[in-house]
Amino acid sequence: MGAGYVGGPTMAVIAQRCPHIRVCVVDISQAQIDAWNTDDLPIYEPGLLEVVKESRGRNLFFSTDIDAEIKRADMVFISVNTPTKTTGIGAGKAANIKNCELCARKIAEVADTPKVVVEKSTVPVRTAEAVRRVLATNEGKVKFQVLSNPEFLAEGTAMPDLQDPSRVLIGGMQTPEGLAAIQELVDVYANWVPKDRILATNTWSSELSKLVANAFLAQRVSSINSISALCEATDADISEVSRALGYDPRIGNKFLNSSVGFGGSCFQKDVLNLVYICESTGLPEVAEYWHQVIAMNDYQKSRFTQLMVRRMFNTVTGKRIAVLGFAFKKDTGDTRETPAVFVCKALLEEQAKVQVYDPQVKRSQMFVEFDYTCGVNKDNTPRLEESITTCEDAYSAAEGSHALAILTEWDEFKTLDYQRIYDSMAKPAFVFDGRGVVDIEALRKIGFEVYCIGKSKPKYSLDSPK
Ligand code: NAI
Repeated sequence: MGAGYVGGPTMAVIAQRCPHIRVCVVDISQAQIDAWNTDDLPIYEPGLLEVVKESRGRNLFFSTDIDAEIKRADMVFISVNTPTKTTGIGAGKAANIKNCELCARKIAEVADTPKVVVEKSTVPVRTAEAVRRVLATNEGKVKFQVLSNPEFLAEGTAMPDLQDPSRVLIGGMQTPEGLAAIQELVDVYANWVPKDRILATNTWSSELSKLVANAFLAQRVSSINSISALCEATDADISEVSRALGYDPRIGNKFLNSSVGFGGSCFQKDVLNLVYICESTGLPEVAEYWHQVIAMNDYQKSRFTQLMVRRMFNTVTGKRIAVLGFAFKKDTGDTRETPAVFVCKALLEEQAKVQVYDPQVKRSQMFVEFDYTCGVNKDNTPRLEESITTCEDAYSAAEGSHALAILTEWDEFKTLDYQRIYDSMAKPAFVFDGRGVVDIEALRKIGFEVYCIGKSKPKYSLDSPK
């Protein structure tokens, strides 16, 4: 249940690797299901279309006939969105598990044979208890087992992550029936995942591990980003510091790139959820510790925009700024919580004109994101539409602009003809690289004034005091 970034790709891979299992992905959104039944899939993920095409119509189906498919299934995965609550108790922190509960209610209502219900969504620890209690309303007729099987895929690399996962985590009740249900799900994954990478735990450890895994990853980004600010203040170089750290096997060399900040639908939501759970369980010190991960990310995003304005002579009013990349990371069209929204919003507040190019993000999607993330829409910002131009490529975005802001690390930004771009821009031509994409020295040689997160400032600029 749920044909989104998780439900679609995970089920497509199960169908591909288990041709003997019939898989049907259902959703309440007809448009979403219709798109899954075409070659213009509703999400962009490298390699996904090929995998879908291999199984679609064979043992992989997409449907809105939710009742019929629940009745047919032995196992139901709940892969619906669990966004941060926007109103009521816990607003701004707690995860809203309304959709999970609705799925459980639907299963309880229509099921007439025993089922294993699998939580794939990321949920607050002990959500399985709520799911169990809702399902129990039908337990006179049907027996259910509830498992936790959180998903660890990363957008942009979802297909390799699913086909060769670092681990599969399955939590369930430590009773004979619970252990039997865990074994049923182990048997599905064992079709392609080595057994030593399939971890079985109790339900609560599994639910909590997913939140903690995302909190650790987000913490690592915030840690290196905090040091990037210190590098800029001391002329140390963040790439050199990262490299030196990464050689220590206790630290490891992954996830040590500094940037304009993390985005995506998960990190912020899951860390805030962890903070909320700590607060509600009477652990304010632990909550505060994790809250700093979000505070540092907010600092990094606003620090970047302030740097842009300050370096462009303290004003960007009326200036054109080319924004290269709007997705929250490369190889995805997902814009949820993307730092680009925060940077663009700040630039609009400074009365700049923004020219955006992203190879995968549609103009309409950008406006949806502005509205969702920061409540900026046509009604409260009448000049929104005219202040943002969307462009077909990086060159047209750059034409006539005073600065480039690189906000997504798309590979194509590494190999642009920067001389051509420089020639088409207003001078002095600034580059603000929020993703460590450009060859700083090569661009400075062309004549650009280049600022990059965690790197020393241009030698020739007259630095105003901080
Ligand atoms: P999504 O928003 O892309 O997809 C969710 C889908 O569920 C939507 O198509 C929606 O129409 C459908 N839906 C909502 N209520 C429904 C209902 N009652 N019955 C049937 N369908 C319903 O969300 P996404 O990104 O796939 O995330 C799903 C869960 O997986 C979330 O809990 C998220 O935290 C978690 N997760 C997401 C990852 C990601 O990279 N996007 C990675 C790992 C976990």
